[in-house]
Amino acid sequence: MIVIVTGGSRGIGRSIVERLCADGVGVLFSHSSSDEEAGELAERLGPLAHAVRLDVTDDDGPGRLFDVAESLGEVTGLVNNAGVTSRIGPLTALRDEELRRVVDVNLVAPLRLCREAARRWASTPGKSRRSIVTVSSVAARTGSPGEYVAYAATKAAVDTMTVGLAKELAPGVRVNAVSPGTIETSIHARSGEPGRAWRVAERIPMGRPGKPEEIAEAVAWLLSDKASYVTGTVLDVAGGL
Ligand SMILES: NC(=O)c1ccc[n+]([C@@H]2O[C@H](COP(=O)([O-])OP(=O)(O)OC[C@H]3O[C@@H](n4cnc5c(N)ncnc54)[C@H](OP(=O)(O)O)[C@@H]3O)[C@@H](O)[C@H]2O)c1
Repeated sequence: MIVIVTGGSRGIGRSIVERLCADGVGVLFSHSSSDEEAGELAERLGPLAHAVRLDVTDDDGPGRLFDVAESLGEVTGLVNNAGVTSRIGPLTALRDEELRRVVDVNLVAPLRLCREAARRWASTPGKSRRSIVTVSSVAARTGSPGEYVAYAATKAAVDTMTVGLAKELAPGVRVNAVSPGTIETSIHARSGEPGRAWRVAERIPMGRPGKPEEIAEAVAWLLSDKASYVTGTVLDVAGGL
């Protein structure tokens, strides 16, 4: 049994990889550039964890990812986790290439990966139960004004993809999303404000940012047979936000 996790070298993705391997699930995770972190993780977790350097926006990315995963075992799950914000700031400050990158990584890539999964699974029906989980964001409903409006728009589209695809692929494949609030990961430093998670903590009813492991727990549950009657759901894990 193999689960594909995109963006598994850091942050939430890394916790998902750790959690699935701890449950005895084989994982193929991707990253686009963080060789050191990916290598350290794969070595630490041992034979259940496999890393592949591959940008999810590459034309042949989805096909290559599934080819490698299928060479390791039967692919039963896909976690669309890789995501980027843009530089923190108003929409007016975004250059075209930054805007397109956000849409390509956060929306086009998950759509193409879901399509790849659906096509491959349609040609091998009736085996194990299959499941897709996409990591969305509560930004889909807050809109992230002044910070990441384009990012928020891609996450709203991901939620809609989840609802539609769940109906399209039922009953063979369950399709769900997890919507984190603010989580302590490297994404904030990459958007230009390393301390953002704690700056916004006063707006969070639970008074603190979440931890990547708290998202991984929800993803692992949705992937598992314990969630066998759950599909088309966007599950908030957001400390009350
Ligand atoms: N942290 C939060 O507060 C928060 C809140 C809500 C939702 N989320 C969502 O949670 C997901 C994970 O975020 P995170 O905070 O864990 O981010 P992160 O710490 O920046 O980690 C992102 C991961 O994705 C990989 N990645 C990025 N672009 C990629 C690409 N084009 N192709 C392949 N891999 C790529 C990165 O590796 P490389 O750099 O090597 O590519 C890294 O492993 C994202 O979808 C994000 O939108 C995060």
